[in-house]
Amino acid sequence: MKKYYMAGNWKMHKTVSESVAMAEELKKVLAACPEKLLVAPAFTSLQAVATVLKGSNILLGAQNMGPEETGAHTGEVSVLMLKDLGVKAVILGHSERRHSYFENDELVNKKLLLALKHGLEPILCIGETLLERDSGKLEEVISRQLKDGLKNVKKPDLKQVTIAYEPVWAIGTGKTATPMDADAVHLYIRKLLAEMYSPEHSKAMCIQYGGSVKPENTRELMSMPNIDGALIGGASLNADSFVSIAMFRS
Ligand code: 13P
Repeated sequence: MKKYYMAGNWKMHKTVSESVAMAEELKKVLAACPEKLLVAPAFTSLQAVATVLKGSNILLGAQNMGPEETGAHTGEVSVLMLKDLGVKAVILGHSERRHSYFENDELVNKKLLLALKHGLEPILCIGETLLERDSGKLEEVISRQLKDGLKNVKKPDLKQVTIAYEPVWAIGTGKTATPMDADAVHLYIRKLLAEMYSPEHSKAMCIQYGGSVKPENTRELMSMPNIDGALIGGASLNADSFVSIAMFRS
């Protein structure tokens, strides 16, 4: 049976105590959830949430990391520090980082290779803006972000990587790509992966959809053949709605 990968990106929300309370609730309620689960709190809450989630079926994720292992990089958090806390996955190339903090594909790729080197599972976010979609550049943007983001990733390492397709216009706007539209882009991503690696690698790849995922649209999105999970922002901040999404099959 297909196992979906449901990941909550808490973004710049929740204090340490709020994060701990949320993690405690999720740990209890989702103990029997059949899906792969992850929450990505802010850096400041990682250690406390790691303690709560230890031994549970919910993995700990980070929302970003620096492109260097160590050194004089004021304000950055290194892959070694994340590993030290028990972080298992890291979200990279989120559109908010690309657009607000000017992260380009080269930087995202550098971080992704570093994450893989240290056994951290990257979630590579890709997605087009509304302007890019409306001007017919969807495939060009997806292709560039995917190919440049995965540059020098070798076949054996690919299974550690998750792709999150997050159309920028659907993030935090309440506008979701229709399941059919999202699936069409996921299919295009699979086509590219098949060319870059092999049809088998492409088929085995986990591709999450992100952008206004909520309890009401999860089942329909997950019923699409090329959608393997969700990267959830707003609806992951509330325990009830994240639980409904994670338990969409019950
Ligand atoms: P929303 O679910 O709030 O649209 O955010 C999606 C997202 O950016 C997850 O990384």
